[in-house]
Amino acid sequence: MQVFLKTERLLLRRFTGADVDDLFDLDSDPDVMRFLTGGKPTPRDVIRNEILPRFLSYYERYAGFGYWAAIEKSTGEFLGWFEFRPPEGGPDEVELGYRLRRSAWGKGYATEGSRALIRKGFTELGVRRVVASTMVVNTASRRVMEKAGLTLARTLHRSWPDPIEGAEHGEVEYELWKADWEQREAAGREGFPSSPGGQGTGA
Ligand SMILES: CC(C)(COP(=O)(O)OP(=O)(O)OC[C@H]1O[C@@H](n2cnc3c(N)ncnc32)[C@H](O)[C@@H]1OP(=O)(O)O)[C@@H](O)C(=O)NCCC(=O)NCCS
Repeated sequence: MQVFLKTERLLLRRFTGADVDDLFDLDSDPDVMRFLTGGKPTPRDVIRNEILPRFLSYYERYAGFGYWAAIEKSTGEFLGWFEFRPPEGGPDEVELGYRLRRSAWGKGYATEGSRALIRKGFTELGVRRVVASTMVVNTASRRVMEKAGLTLARTLHRSWPDPIEGAEHGEVEYELWKADWEQREAAGREGFPSSPGGQGTGA
């Protein structure tokens, strides 16, 4: 197992060709897919032939960036994944994303993993700006962005050929600049208590 990062409760590792079933299960829950496809599952052959190969190819293209399988340390269970990779070009700017099994929601895992990735990005990987986007109505995802220290950069309205429910409210883009993160870290060291996840003060 190629471990990329450990947090207090999570282990983020590289995906392998053996992760088809876990990804298929994850994408088979309509609640997980609600703000992504309107609840439609991802077919197994799409995972096997398109999604997983794409995940694996990122490790070759960008050292230190990509999609990471999230494993619960205490149980060894696959919880879902985190995305932390440049959308285009070099690693100056990185996109943050996450998708977790419903049974793992509400425990602070998405926030814990995001904060750890952001810290690694800013301190070790040369990242200058972290961005994340979601539907306006995806409150849980927006809350994770805020707790990880990102702030709202813009709201946009795009027209989709086959819009899912809630798309009419638009999408939001959040961002966090390294300088702002550093400033908050310094303020945290001067007296604010650390977060329970031990990953800095965050938002
Ligand atoms: C988004 C997601 C990763 C969050 O994971 P998580 O581990 O539950 O997140 P956390 O526990 O770290 O934080 C969730 C926060 O959102 C809040 N929240 C969750 N659902 C909410 C809702 N419907 N309304 C308001 N707040 C909500 C939680 O209370 C928590 O905030 P708090 O700590 O201030 O109470 C998870 O819900 C998920 O996988 N969703 C499906 C995939 C998805 O939509 N991914 C994002 C696509 S952009």
